[in-house]
Amino acid sequence: MSNEITRRHLLGVSAATIAGAPGILSAQNVSGKVNVGWIGAGTRGMHVMKMMYQAVPESVVVSGVCDTFEGNLAKGKDQIQTMGKNTPKTYVDYKEMLADKSIDAVFIATPEHLHHEMTIAALRAGKNIYVEKPLAHTIEEGQEIVREAKKAGKVVQVGTQNRSNSLYKKAKEMVAQGMIGEVHYVRAFWYRNSLEDNPAWRYAIPPDATEKNTDWKKFLGSAKNRPFDKQRYYQWRLYWDYSGGISTDLLVHQTDITNFVCGKAEPLSCMASGGIYRWAGASDDREVPDTLSAIYEYPDKFHINYSCYFGNEQYGYGEQFMGNEGTIEVLNRQTLRFYTEKFRGKAPDKVKARQEFTEDKPGNDLPAVQAHTANFINAVLGKEKVIAPVEVGQQAAVSGHLATLSLRNNKKVLWDSKTQKYRFV
Ligand SMILES: NC(=O)c1ccc[n+]([C@@H]2O[C@H](COP(=O)([O-])OP(=O)(O)OC[C@H]3O[C@@H](n4cnc5c(N)ncnc54)[C@H](O)[C@@H]3O)[C@@H](O)[C@H]2O)c1
Repeated sequence: MSNEITRRHLLGVSAATIAGAPGILSAQNVSGKVNVGWIGAGTRGMHVMKMMYQAVPESVVVSGVCDTFEGNLAKGKDQIQTMGKNTPKTYVDYKEMLADKSIDAVFIATPEHLHHEMTIAALRAGKNIYVEKPLAHTIEEGQEIVREAKKAGKVVQVGTQNRSNSLYKKAKEMVAQGMIGEVHYVRAFWYRNSLEDNPAWRYAIPPDATEKNTDWKKFLGSAKNRPFDKQRYYQWRLYWDYSGGISTDLLVHQTDITNFVCGKAEPLSCMASGGIYRWAGASDDREVPDTLSAIYEYPDKFHINYSCYFGNEQYGYGEQFMGNEGTIEVLNRQTLRFYTEKFRGKAPDKVKARQEFTEDKPGNDLPAVQAHTANFINAVLGKEKVIAPVEVGQQAAVSGHLATLSLRNNKKVLWDSKTQKYRFV
Protein backbone atom coordinates (compact mmCIF):
# COMPACT_ATOMS: atom_id res chain seq x y z
CA MET A 1 0.00 0.00 0.00
CA SER A 2 1.41 3.41 -0.85
CA ASN A 3 1.96 5.99 1.88
CA GLU A 4 -0.84 8.07 0.45
CA ILE A 5 -3.36 5.26 0.44
CA THR A 6 -2.29 4.20 3.92
CA ARG A 7 -2.72 7.74 5.13
CA ARG A 8 -6.18 8.06 3.64
CA HIS A 9 -7.08 4.66 5.01
CA LEU A 10 -5.91 5.66 8.47
CA LEU A 11 -7.63 9.00 8.22
CA GLY A 12 -10.89 7.20 7.66
CA VAL A 13 -10.34 4.85 10.56
CA SER A 14 -9.21 7.52 12.99
CA ALA A 15 -12.02 9.91 12.13
CA ALA A 16 -14.44 7.23 13.18
CA THR A 17 -12.61 6.19 16.31
CA ILE A 18 -10.78 9.20 17.80
CA ALA A 19 -13.17 12.08 18.07
CA GLY A 20 -11.53 15.41 17.39
CA ALA A 21 -8.05 13.96 16.74
CA PRO A 22 -6.60 14.50 13.32
CA GLY A 23 -5.40 11.86 10.87
CA ILE A 24 -2.67 9.56 11.87
CA LEU A 25 -1.65 10.51 15.36
CA SER A 26 -1.32 7.71 17.87
CA ALA A 27 -4.48 6.49 19.58
CA GLN A 28 -3.14 7.96 22.83
CA ASN A 29 -2.93 11.42 21.34
CA VAL A 30 -6.05 13.49 21.79
CA SER A 31 -4.34 16.89 21.75
CA GLY A 32 -4.30 17.18 17.97
CA LYS A 33 -0.60 18.11 18.18
CA VAL A 34 2.12 15.87 16.88
CA ASN A 35 3.93 14.34 19.84
CA VAL A 36 7.61 14.40 18.92
CA GLY A 37 10.63 12.51 20.26
CA TRP A 38 14.01 14.04 19.45
CA ILE A 39 17.09 11.88 18.80
CA GLY A 40 20.33 13.85 18.59
CA ALA A 41 20.64 17.33 20.09
CA GLY A 42 23.94 18.27 18.48
CA THR A 43 24.53 21.18 16.10
CA ARG A 44 21.96 20.13 13.53
CA GLY A 45 19.41 18.70 15.91
CA MET A 46 19.25 21.92 17.92
CA HIS A 47 18.93 24.02 14.77
CA VAL A 48 16.22 21.92 13.16
CA MET A 49 14.29 21.84 16.44
CA LYS A 50 14.43 25.61 16.67
CA MET A 51 13.25 25.98 13.06
CA MET A 52 10.41 23.53 13.71
CA TYR A 53 9.24 25.46 16.77
CA GLN A 54 9.37 28.71 14.79
CA ALA A 55 7.46 27.19 11.88
CA VAL A 56 4.67 25.20 13.55
CA PRO A 57 4.59 25.98 17.28
CA GLU A 58 0.90 25.25 17.49
CA SER A 59 1.20 21.77 15.97
CA VAL A 60 3.95 20.12 18.02
CA VAL A 61 4.91 19.00 21.49
CA VAL A 62 8.39 17.60 22.01
CA SER A 63 7.87 15.22 24.89
CA GLY A 64 11.17 13.35 24.79
CA VAL A 65 14.78 14.07 23.90
CA CYS A 66 17.63 11.60 23.59
CA ASP A 67 21.37 12.19 23.35
CA THR A 68 24.43 10.21 24.39
CA PHE A 69 26.41 13.26 25.52
CA GLU A 70 25.08 14.69 28.76
CA GLY A 71 25.93 18.25 27.77
CA ASN A 72 23.87 18.07 24.57
CA LEU A 73 21.04 16.25 26.30
CA ALA A 74 20.84 19.11 28.79
CA LYS A 75 20.92 21.67 25.95
CA GLY A 76 18.13 19.84 24.14
CA LYS A 77 15.98 19.73 27.26
CA ASP A 78 16.65 23.39 27.87
CA GLN A 79 15.64 24.43 24.37
CA ILE A 80 12.40 22.44 24.64
CA GLN A 81 11.62 24.12 27.96
CA THR A 82 12.31 27.54 26.50
CA MET A 83 10.62 27.14 23.13
CA GLY A 84 7.97 24.50 23.86
CA LYS A 85 7.21 25.50 27.46
CA ASN A 86 7.16 21.88 28.64
CA THR A 87 9.71 19.64 30.34
CA PRO A 88 10.55 16.64 28.16
CA LYS A 89 11.63 13.22 29.38
CA THR A 90 15.33 12.67 28.76
CA TYR A 91 16.89 9.49 27.40
CA VAL A 92 20.35 8.15 26.67
CA ASP A 93 18.94 5.08 24.92
CA TYR A 94 16.73 5.99 21.97
CA LYS A 95 15.06 2.57 22.11
CA GLU A 96 13.54 3.47 25.47
CA MET A 97 12.08 6.60 23.92
CA LEU A 98 10.69 4.64 20.97
CA ALA A 99 8.86 2.38 23.43
CA ASP A 100 6.68 5.34 24.42
CA LYS A 101 3.54 4.66 22.41
CA SER A 102 2.30 8.21 22.75
CA ILE A 103 5.14 9.49 20.54
CA ASP A 104 3.91 9.98 16.97
CA ALA A 105 7.07 11.12 15.26
CA VAL A 106 10.81 11.22 15.79
CA PHE A 107 13.49 13.50 14.42
CA ILE A 108 16.84 11.77 13.91
CA ALA A 109 19.82 14.14 13.83
CA THR A 110 22.65 11.81 14.83
CA PRO A 111 25.83 10.94 12.93
CA GLU A 112 25.36 9.25 9.56
CA HIS A 113 26.28 5.69 10.60
CA LEU A 114 23.43 5.63 13.15
CA HIS A 115 20.64 6.64 10.78
CA HIS A 116 20.00 3.08 9.63
CA GLU A 117 19.54 1.38 13.00
CA MET A 118 17.53 4.30 14.38
CA THR A 119 15.25 4.69 11.37
CA ILE A 120 14.54 0.97 11.14
CA ALA A 121 13.84 0.78 14.88
CA ALA A 122 11.58 3.84 14.72
CA LEU A 123 9.61 2.44 11.79
CA ARG A 124 9.17 -0.85 13.62
CA ALA A 125 7.95 1.10 16.63
CA GLY A 126 5.32 2.72 14.40
CA LYS A 127 6.81 6.23 14.34
CA ASN A 128 6.77 8.81 11.56
CA ILE A 129 10.30 10.01 10.89
CA TYR A 130 12.26 13.09 9.88
CA VAL A 131 15.78 11.78 9.32
CA GLU A 132 18.69 14.00 8.47
CA LYS A 133 20.60 13.41 5.26
CA PRO A 134 22.21 11.22 4.14
CA LEU A 135 19.50 8.61 4.49
CA ALA A 136 22.08 6.01 5.53
CA HIS A 137 25.76 5.16 5.59
CA THR A 138 25.68 2.60 2.73
CA ILE A 139 23.51 1.90 -0.31
CA GLU A 140 22.33 -1.38 1.20
CA GLU A 141 21.31 0.21 4.50
CA GLY A 142 19.27 2.78 2.60
CA GLN A 143 17.59 0.05 0.56
CA GLU A 144 16.54 -1.69 3.76
CA ILE A 145 15.09 1.57 5.10
CA VAL A 146 13.09 2.09 1.90
CA ARG A 147 11.67 -1.45 2.12
CA GLU A 148 10.83 -1.09 5.81
CA ALA A 149 9.21 2.32 5.25
CA LYS A 150 6.98 0.89 2.53
CA LYS A 151 5.95 -1.90 4.86
CA ALA A 152 5.28 0.47 7.75
CA GLY A 153 3.32 3.00 5.66
CA LYS A 154 4.60 5.84 7.86
CA VAL A 155 5.58 9.35 6.81
CA VAL A 156 9.32 9.71 6.24
CA GLN A 157 10.93 13.02 5.37
CA VAL A 158 14.66 13.16 4.62
CA GLY A 159 16.46 16.33 5.70
CA THR A 160 17.39 17.56 2.23
CA GLN A 161 15.79 20.92 2.88
CA ASN A 162 16.80 22.52 -0.42
CA ARG A 163 13.60 21.00 -1.80
CA SER A 164 11.71 23.37 0.50
CA ASN A 165 13.80 26.38 -0.55
CA SER A 166 11.70 28.86 -2.56
CA LEU A 167 14.58 29.58 -4.96
CA TYR A 168 15.02 25.96 -5.97
CA LYS A 169 11.26 25.62 -6.35
CA LYS A 170 11.39 28.59 -8.69
CA ALA A 171 14.31 27.08 -10.60
CA LYS A 172 12.33 23.86 -11.01
CA GLU A 173 9.34 25.76 -12.42
CA MET A 174 11.56 27.72 -14.78
CA VAL A 175 13.17 24.55 -16.12
CA ALA A 176 9.74 22.97 -16.58
CA GLN A 177 8.56 26.09 -18.47
CA GLY A 178 11.50 25.76 -20.87
CA MET A 179 13.17 29.03 -19.78
CA ILE A 180 16.64 27.58 -20.35
CA GLY A 181 15.73 25.16 -23.13
CA GLU A 182 17.02 21.60 -22.97
CA VAL A 183 19.21 20.80 -19.99
CA HIS A 184 21.97 18.25 -20.39
CA TYR A 185 24.62 19.68 -18.13
CA VAL A 186 24.80 20.80 -14.49
CA ARG A 187 27.81 22.14 -12.69
CA ALA A 188 27.66 21.89 -8.89
CA PHE A 189 30.32 22.95 -6.43
CA TRP A 190 31.00 23.56 -2.76
CA TYR A 191 34.11 25.44 -1.72
CA ARG A 192 35.28 26.28 1.80
CA ASN A 193 38.39 27.46 3.53
CA SER A 194 39.54 28.24 7.05
CA LEU A 195 42.64 29.29 8.92
CA GLU A 196 45.35 26.85 10.01
CA ASP A 197 44.07 26.85 13.59
CA ASN A 198 40.56 25.94 12.46
CA PRO A 199 40.89 22.87 10.23
CA ALA A 200 37.88 21.82 8.18
CA TRP A 201 35.41 19.69 10.14
CA ARG A 202 37.55 19.72 13.29
CA TYR A 203 34.61 21.10 15.23
CA ALA A 204 35.28 22.15 18.83
CA ILE A 205 35.18 19.32 21.35
CA PRO A 206 33.16 20.38 24.40
CA PRO A 207 35.73 21.08 27.13
CA ASP A 208 33.64 19.20 29.70
CA ALA A 209 33.27 16.03 27.59
CA THR A 210 34.61 12.92 29.28
CA GLU A 211 34.17 9.18 28.92
CA LYS A 212 31.79 9.34 31.90
CA ASN A 213 29.32 11.80 30.36
CA THR A 214 29.62 10.50 26.77
CA ASP A 215 28.13 7.09 25.95
CA TRP A 216 30.81 5.89 23.55
CA LYS A 217 29.32 2.39 23.02
CA LYS A 218 25.98 3.81 21.95
CA PHE A 219 27.71 6.26 19.64
CA LEU A 220 29.58 3.38 17.99
CA GLY A 221 26.39 1.42 17.34
CA SER A 222 27.36 -1.26 14.84
CA ALA A 223 30.62 0.49 13.87
CA LYS A 224 33.95 -1.17 14.66
CA ASN A 225 34.73 -1.29 18.36
CA ARG A 226 37.52 1.05 19.47
CA PRO A 227 38.62 2.70 22.69
CA PHE A 228 36.93 6.00 23.59
CA ASP A 229 38.15 8.74 21.26
CA LYS A 230 36.82 12.29 21.60
CA GLN A 231 37.88 13.25 18.10
CA ARG A 232 35.97 10.39 16.57
CA TYR A 233 32.89 11.18 18.67
CA TYR A 234 32.76 14.93 18.17
CA GLN A 235 34.41 15.10 14.73
CA TRP A 236 32.84 11.94 13.31
CA ARG A 237 32.59 13.41 9.77
CA LEU A 238 36.31 12.91 9.29
CA TYR A 239 36.26 9.10 9.66
CA TRP A 240 34.95 6.51 7.21
CA ASP A 241 33.37 4.37 9.95
CA TYR A 242 30.79 7.10 10.60
CA SER A 243 30.70 9.28 7.47
CA GLY A 244 31.11 9.32 3.71
CA GLY A 245 32.81 12.72 3.99
CA ILE A 246 32.10 15.27 1.27
CA SER A 247 30.10 12.73 -0.80
CA THR A 248 27.38 12.15 1.76
CA ASP A 249 27.68 15.35 3.76
CA LEU A 250 27.62 18.00 1.03
CA LEU A 251 27.36 16.43 -2.41
CA VAL A 252 24.05 14.66 -1.63
CA HIS A 253 22.38 18.04 -1.15
CA GLN A 254 23.49 19.03 -4.63
CA THR A 255 22.68 15.85 -6.52
CA ASP A 256 19.36 15.80 -4.68
CA ILE A 257 18.48 19.31 -5.75
CA THR A 258 19.60 18.62 -9.30
CA ASN A 259 17.24 15.63 -9.31
CA PHE A 260 14.48 17.92 -8.01
CA VAL A 261 15.04 20.83 -10.40
CA CYS A 262 15.67 18.72 -13.49
CA GLY A 263 13.32 15.79 -12.81
CA LYS A 264 16.06 13.19 -12.45
CA ALA A 265 16.49 10.22 -10.12
CA GLU A 266 19.62 8.06 -10.22
CA PRO A 267 22.79 8.25 -12.28
CA LEU A 268 24.08 5.56 -14.62
CA SER A 269 27.68 6.00 -13.53
CA CYS A 270 30.08 7.95 -11.38
CA MET A 271 33.77 8.58 -11.61
CA ALA A 272 35.32 10.39 -8.64
CA SER A 273 38.76 11.54 -7.74
CA GLY A 274 40.37 13.50 -4.91
CA GLY A 275 42.25 13.22 -1.66
CA ILE A 276 43.44 15.02 1.45
CA TYR A 277 45.37 18.00 0.09
CA ARG A 278 44.67 21.02 2.27
CA TRP A 279 44.45 19.39 5.72
CA ALA A 280 47.21 16.83 5.35
CA GLY A 281 49.15 17.80 8.49
CA ALA A 282 51.07 14.96 10.13
CA SER A 283 49.08 15.28 13.35
CA ASP A 284 45.70 15.21 11.56
CA ASP A 285 44.34 11.65 11.39
CA ARG A 286 41.38 12.50 9.16
CA GLU A 287 40.43 9.83 6.61
CA VAL A 288 37.94 11.54 4.29
CA PRO A 289 39.10 13.79 1.45
CA ASP A 290 39.05 17.57 1.54
CA THR A 291 39.19 17.65 -2.25
CA LEU A 292 36.71 15.81 -4.44
CA SER A 293 35.56 15.89 -8.04
CA ALA A 294 32.84 13.57 -9.30
CA ILE A 295 31.44 13.14 -12.78
CA TYR A 296 27.99 11.61 -13.18
CA GLU A 297 26.28 10.33 -16.31
CA TYR A 298 22.51 10.03 -16.07
CA PRO A 299 19.99 8.43 -18.44
CA ASP A 300 18.72 10.66 -21.28
CA LYS A 301 22.01 12.44 -21.93
CA PHE A 302 22.40 14.25 -18.64
CA HIS A 303 25.63 15.07 -16.89
CA ILE A 304 26.65 16.46 -13.49
CA ASN A 305 30.11 17.87 -13.02
CA TYR A 306 30.72 18.12 -9.27
CA SER A 307 33.60 19.79 -7.50
CA CYS A 308 34.43 20.39 -3.84
CA TYR A 309 37.54 21.75 -2.17
CA PHE A 310 38.21 22.89 1.39
CA GLY A 311 41.16 25.14 0.59
CA ASN A 312 39.56 28.11 -1.19
CA GLU A 313 36.13 29.66 -0.74
CA GLN A 314 36.17 32.24 -3.50
CA TYR A 315 33.23 30.72 -5.37
CA GLY A 316 31.14 29.57 -2.39
CA TYR A 317 28.67 26.89 -3.29
CA GLY A 318 25.88 26.39 -5.72
CA GLU A 319 24.48 24.70 -8.78
CA GLN A 320 24.47 25.94 -12.35
CA PHE A 321 21.77 24.47 -14.54
CA MET A 322 23.17 25.01 -18.02
CA GLY A 323 20.42 24.80 -20.66
CA ASN A 324 20.90 25.23 -24.40
CA GLU A 325 18.99 28.54 -24.24
CA GLY A 326 19.97 29.87 -20.83
CA THR A 327 21.42 29.25 -17.39
CA ILE A 328 19.92 29.25 -13.92
CA GLU A 329 22.33 29.34 -11.05
CA VAL A 330 21.44 29.11 -7.39
CA LEU A 331 24.31 30.29 -5.22
CA ASN A 332 24.77 29.73 -1.49
CA ARG A 333 21.09 28.74 -1.32
CA GLN A 334 20.16 32.41 -1.40
CA THR A 335 20.71 33.92 -4.83
CA LEU A 336 19.05 32.85 -8.05
CA ARG A 337 20.39 34.25 -11.31
CA PHE A 338 18.89 33.73 -14.72
CA TYR A 339 20.93 34.37 -17.87
CA THR A 340 19.91 33.86 -21.48
CA GLU A 341 22.22 32.47 -24.13
CA LYS A 342 23.38 35.16 -26.54
CA PHE A 343 24.43 32.99 -29.51
CA ARG A 344 26.93 35.71 -30.46
CA GLY A 345 24.18 38.26 -30.98
CA LYS A 346 21.98 35.94 -33.03
CA ALA A 347 19.70 34.70 -30.29
CA PRO A 348 16.25 33.61 -31.56
CA ASP A 349 13.51 36.11 -30.66
CA LYS A 350 11.90 33.75 -28.14
CA VAL A 351 15.21 33.58 -26.23
CA LYS A 352 15.92 37.33 -26.55
CA ALA A 353 12.47 38.08 -25.15
CA ARG A 354 13.22 36.37 -21.83
CA GLN A 355 14.18 38.83 -19.12
CA GLU A 356 17.36 38.08 -17.23
CA PHE A 357 17.09 38.61 -13.49
CA THR A 358 18.68 38.07 -10.10
CA GLU A 359 16.68 37.23 -7.01
CA ASP A 360 18.45 37.61 -3.68
CA LYS A 361 17.03 36.09 -0.53
CA PRO A 362 19.71 36.38 2.15
CA GLY A 363 19.60 33.56 4.68
CA ASN A 364 17.09 31.61 2.61
CA ASP A 365 18.17 28.30 4.15
CA LEU A 366 16.41 29.26 7.40
CA PRO A 367 12.90 29.50 5.91
CA ALA A 368 13.76 26.39 3.90
CA VAL A 369 14.40 24.36 7.06
CA GLN A 370 11.27 25.84 8.64
CA ALA A 371 9.22 24.88 5.60
CA HIS A 372 10.79 21.42 5.49
CA THR A 373 9.93 20.65 9.12
CA ALA A 374 6.45 22.18 8.73
CA ASN A 375 5.88 20.04 5.65
CA PHE A 376 6.79 16.95 7.69
CA ILE A 377 4.54 17.84 10.62
CA ASN A 378 1.66 18.66 8.28
CA ALA A 379 2.21 15.35 6.50
CA VAL A 380 1.99 13.53 9.83
CA LEU A 381 -1.27 15.37 10.40
CA GLY A 382 -2.45 14.07 7.02
CA LYS A 383 -2.62 17.55 5.43
CA GLU A 384 0.30 17.39 2.97
CA LYS A 385 2.66 15.01 1.22
CA VAL A 386 6.34 15.18 2.13
CA ILE A 387 8.58 16.82 -0.44
CA ALA A 388 11.61 14.61 0.34
CA PRO A 389 10.21 11.11 0.85
CA VAL A 390 12.43 8.17 1.65
CA GLU A 391 12.80 7.10 -2.00
CA VAL A 392 14.26 10.43 -3.09
CA GLY A 393 16.45 10.50 0.02
CA GLN A 394 17.82 7.15 -1.09
CA GLN A 395 18.31 8.37 -4.67
CA ALA A 396 20.44 11.25 -3.39
CA ALA A 397 22.31 8.96 -1.01
CA VAL A 398 23.06 6.51 -3.84
CA SER A 399 24.84 9.24 -5.79
CA GLY A 400 26.91 10.09 -2.71
CA HIS A 401 27.84 6.47 -2.02
CA LEU A 402 28.78 5.90 -5.67
CA ALA A 403 31.23 8.81 -5.43
CA THR A 404 32.78 7.31 -2.29
CA LEU A 405 32.98 3.86 -3.90
CA SER A 406 34.61 5.27 -7.02
CA LEU A 407 37.07 7.38 -5.05
CA ARG A 408 38.09 4.68 -2.60
CA ASN A 409 38.44 1.99 -5.27
CA ASN A 410 39.98 4.29 -7.85
CA LYS A 411 37.54 2.97 -10.46
CA LYS A 412 34.53 4.14 -12.38
CA VAL A 413 31.34 2.69 -10.93
CA LEU A 414 28.19 1.81 -12.87
CA TRP A 415 24.75 1.88 -11.30
CA ASP A 416 21.85 -0.28 -12.45
CA SER A 417 18.67 1.37 -11.22
CA LYS A 418 16.56 -1.71 -12.13
CA THR A 419 18.52 -4.17 -10.02
CA GLN A 420 19.66 -1.42 -7.60
CA LYS A 421 23.22 -2.74 -7.78
CA TYR A 422 26.57 -1.25 -8.68
CA ARG A 423 29.65 -2.67 -10.35
CA PHE A 424 33.10 -1.33 -11.07
CA VAL A 425 34.56 -1.03 -14.56
N1 LIG B 1 20.47 19.18 6.23
C1 LIG B 1 21.56 19.87 6.49
O1 LIG B 1 21.82 20.93 5.91
C2 LIG B 1 22.51 19.36 7.54
C3 LIG B 1 23.47 20.22 8.10
C4 LIG B 1 24.31 19.72 9.10
C5 LIG B 1 24.19 18.40 9.48
N2 LIG B 1 23.27 17.59 8.92
C6 LIG B 1 23.15 16.16 9.31
O2 LIG B 1 22.68 16.10 10.65
C7 LIG B 1 23.20 14.95 11.30
C8 LIG B 1 23.90 15.36 12.59
O3 LIG B 1 24.98 16.22 12.29
P1 LIG B 1 25.55 17.26 13.37
O4 LIG B 1 26.41 18.21 12.63
O5 LIG B 1 24.45 17.78 14.18
O6 LIG B 1 26.46 16.31 14.28
P2 LIG B 1 26.79 16.56 15.81
O7 LIG B 1 27.97 15.71 16.12
O8 LIG B 1 26.87 18.01 16.12
O9 LIG B 1 25.52 16.00 16.57
C9 LIG B 1 25.22 14.64 16.67
C10 LIG B 1 24.53 14.42 18.00
O10 LIG B 1 24.15 13.06 18.10
C11 LIG B 1 24.47 12.60 19.40
N3 LIG B 1 24.60 11.14 19.39
C12 LIG B 1 25.63 10.39 18.96
N4 LIG B 1 25.33 9.09 19.08
C13 LIG B 1 24.06 9.02 19.58
C14 LIG B 1 23.19 7.94 19.92
N5 LIG B 1 23.55 6.66 19.78
N6 LIG B 1 21.98 8.24 20.44
C15 LIG B 1 21.58 9.54 20.60
N7 LIG B 1 22.37 10.60 20.30
C16 LIG B 1 23.60 10.32 19.78
C17 LIG B 1 25.74 13.34 19.77
O11 LIG B 1 25.98 13.38 21.16
C18 LIG B 1 25.43 14.72 19.21
O12 LIG B 1 24.76 15.51 20.14
C19 LIG B 1 24.12 14.28 10.27
O13 LIG B 1 23.42 13.29 9.58
C20 LIG B 1 24.46 15.41 9.32
O14 LIG B 1 24.80 14.97 8.02
C21 LIG B 1 22.42 18.05 7.96
